[in-house]
Amino acid sequence: MSKRFGDSVAVDDVTLTIEPGEFMTFLGPSGSGKTTTLNMIAGFTDLSAGALEIDGRPVGGTPAHKRDIGVVFQHYALFPHMTVAQNIAFPLQQRKVPKTERERLVAAALETVQLPDHASRYPAELSGGQQQRVALARAIVFSPRVLLMDEPLGALDRKLREFLQLEIKRIHREIGSTFVFVTHDQEEALILSDRIAVFNNARIEQVGTASELYERPATLFVARFLGESTILRGTARPDGSGSAIDGAGFAVRAPGRIEGGKAALVVRPERLRLTPDEPVTADGANAVPVTVVEEIYLGAARKLEVALPDGGHGLVREQAGSLSDLRVGDRAVLRWHPDDCVLLPDDPTIERIFT
Ligand SMILES: Nc1ncnc2c1ncn2[C@@H]1O[C@H](COP(=O)(O)OP(=O)(O)OP(=O)(O)O)[C@@H](O)[C@H]1O
Ligand SMILES: [Mg+2]
Repeated sequence: MSKRFGDSVAVDDVTLTIEPGEFMTFLGPSGSGKTTTLNMIAGFTDLSAGALEIDGRPVGGTPAHKRDIGVVFQHYALFPHMTVAQNIAFPLQQRKVPKTERERLVAAALETVQLPDHASRYPAELSGGQQQRVALARAIVFSPRVLLMDEPLGALDRKLREFLQLEIKRIHREIGSTFVFVTHDQEEALILSDRIAVFNNARIEQVGTASELYERPATLFVARFLGESTILRGTARPDGSGSAIDGAGFAVRAPGRIEGGKAALVVRPERLRLTPDEPVTADGANAVPVTVVEEIYLGAARKLEVALPDGGHGLVREQAGSLSDLRVGDRAVLRWHPDDCVLLPDDPTIERIFT
């Protein structure tokens, strides 16, 4: 499906199947089309082109309130003049659920979000996190098939966000509905999701489980956006079943082939080893001469930032217990097995600072 606003394309031919009961996360930078896609699913925004089905039925002509979808936004959007119980009962009243059943469902929803004692409070008497839990209760009280959440934790501080991430995960397990969650926080996406759709420039670049995206990024953008990596750039040519890549000051090997020759090699920090010796490749490993430029202490591990011969920077993760003796300023050799890197067509718009 696609969405245009005047001349600009907010969502460009996005195709996606979300499985029943799945926790799907839309991850991507600001302006990449996540909210617009969510709004089309919810029925708040018309499609410019394409089609949308829920449970195998086209919903193009179905208004938002008839789609059986619950929605939670970044800002709580509770009715300030209603109590917590009245807020949560609202969608049930709209659906003409009888009073006793309504009270039972409101109490159950309050239990689910762990606020059973707050029914008679007003939103202004709740903390931000509590308000967001009430918004969640209001969205799930009518047992929607689908729950859409647009950065619901974005306005909360880190501790509360981490707590509510686990709550949302638990609620997903409990109620079994399909969840679609929008965030631009990769850690949040990794914690919550069965699968992640990575948005960039109005398109989905890749859909997959966290480990698929991390181990086998399909594009340089996905590699950069999800997790840390070292990126080496060079010219690739076929070599056996894989490729040989020549860069400025190094020659390495990688699995697979690419079109066009201009290559970017992606290696994750825990796949790299730093050794103080000369760059010999007798063990079949790739070896690139580097200089250690920064050391970052992480308790259970440390990260070393290294300067690559072509002017770029790389990042190595060493577990506590198997730390090298290397220090800032030391010359060293960066090693990894050719199978432990991913060869991708270069994308000159993507810089290679790690993070
Ligand atoms: N109502 C609108 N009118 C015109 N342009 C819009 C409208 N809504 C969104 N856009 C544009 O469509 C593009 C995608 O916006 P969208 O809100 O879907 O991004 P997003 O991925 O949710 O970003 P963020 O992380 O900042 O919320 C942006 O360029 C935005 O400016
Ligand atoms: Mg948005």
